[in-house]
Amino acid sequence: MTKHRFAFALLAAAALSLSLSAYAANVKTGTASTYSADVKAGRALAFNKKKGNCIACHVIKGAVMPGHVARPLVGIKKAFPNRSTLERILYDESLRDPMAPMPRLGKNHVLTHSEIEKIIDFLYTL
Ligand code: HEC
Repeated sequence: MTKHRFAFALLAAAALSLSLSAYAANVKTGTASTYSADVKAGRALAFNKKKGNCIACHVIKGAVMPGHVARPLVGIKKAFPNRSTLERILYDESLRDPMAPMPRLGKNHVLTHSEIEKIIDFLYTL
């Protein structure tokens, strides 16, 4: 490595560590850490048989032997950029499709409003 290149590599490393510490500082702010806790809680709710149990019917990355009744849950943010559409689907999918076998999770008090919000935070990472 020439002296010149070495200096450049040092500079690049310094820039990277600067941006990493800026990132770490960001993650420590209240909203960011609350958000990642919500995503984690949402995932647990989606996988929990007594709660969302989404994986009984939908393939979700990381699920063991998921059901294939409905479409795999991927690209959710792109497919449903409007959160309220997802809120309605999770509250009561039969409002959209009366024949839908998807459980009325909110309406039937399986999920609270705040649990639905956490599941949506998780879905938006898929
Ligand atoms: C009993 C099976 C079942 C369970 C459990 C279930 N779903 Fe569904 N879901 C379906 C079916 C079937 C559809 C398609 C419904 C329709 O025809 O409108 C659907 C539709 C959806 C849609 C809309 C997909 C689209 O492209 O229109 C989303 C999003 C969704 N489900 C998310 C979830 C989440 C999140 C959970 C868990 C909290 C869940 N589902 C639990 C069966 C299920």
